[in-house]
Amino acid sequence: MIEGIGVTKVFRHGRSDVVAVDDVHLNVIPGEFVLIYGRSGSGKSTLLGMLGGLINPTSGVIRVNGLDIGNLSDAMISEVRAKEIGFVFQFSGHIPTVTVLENVMLPMLFYRDGPGSLSRAVELIRRVGLSDRADAYPCTLSSGEMKRVAIARALINSPPILIADEPTGDLDIDTEYEIMQLFQQLNSEGMTFVMVTHNLDLVPFGTRTYRMDRGKMMEIPRPLPGVTMTKEPNTHLDHDAGTAMNEL
Ligand SMILES: Nc1ncnc2c1ncn2[C@@H]1O[C@H](COP(=O)(O)OP(=O)(O)OP(=O)(O)O)[C@@H](O)[C@H]1O
Ligand SMILES: [Mg+2]
Repeated sequence: MIEGIGVTKVFRHGRSDVVAVDDVHLNVIPGEFVLIYGRSGSGKSTLLGMLGGLINPTSGVIRVNGLDIGNLSDAMISEVRAKEIGFVFQFSGHIPTVTVLENVMLPMLFYRDGPGSLSRAVELIRRVGLSDRADAYPCTLSSGEMKRVAIARALINSPPILIADEPTGDLDIDTEYEIMQLFQQLNSEGMTFVMVTHNLDLVPFGTRTYRMDRGKMMEIPRPLPGVTMTKEPNTHLDHDAGTAMNEL
């Protein structure tokens, strides 16, 4: 589905080179929920950016559904991204002059025949808990609310793959587990996830876990020693919501 072979990214800092991602090999299989954690500056966002076709690797190959995206034109990469990949950025930007609802619907402009629709946008906004802010402008939202708009936007076209860079970073624990429940449900319906988190409590949500350390990535065998969930996944979510999403 997404395959990275010997993926490396070197940034030049003044006179020295920083190897942000160092010879990473990763094969994401359809239906997986891959979690990546690691210290600040260990290369997680750079890796996700390369997997999503946003950052060119210095060396190595990235294939999305068998297509080497290094060999594609910018227009073709954009098309692959619009159809195949939802991306939740670590620092999400929104168009300030349009509402939450319109921001969520924005990716539909780039994939006109896609599954995105007004009713799906409304349902996703409900699922991320922002129904009462659908008509609000981004500058009036808290950072956690903006993050949830970014999650809904990344899901609008029902992408086969969701790449999410600390999607729950600004959220309180209840909202975090609600978002993780939404992700888990979408994952059980077949959506593939590659997600970066700082929160080790989320490890049980993953089907495969990696740790990054100074650009190197290593798989962590399950179960992770010493890691337990501090809280059961929330059960107070609206159970009809799953049915509603299936119907969209
Ligand atoms: N565009 C860039 N130009 C130069 N250096 C960069 C660039 N992007 C990232 N880096 C450097 O690459 C390294 C990895 O950065 P990255 O953002 O991938 O880390 P991260 O693991 O996502 O950190 P965090 O947990 O703080 O988000 C850091 O040393 C960073 O300074
Ligand atoms: Mg980062």
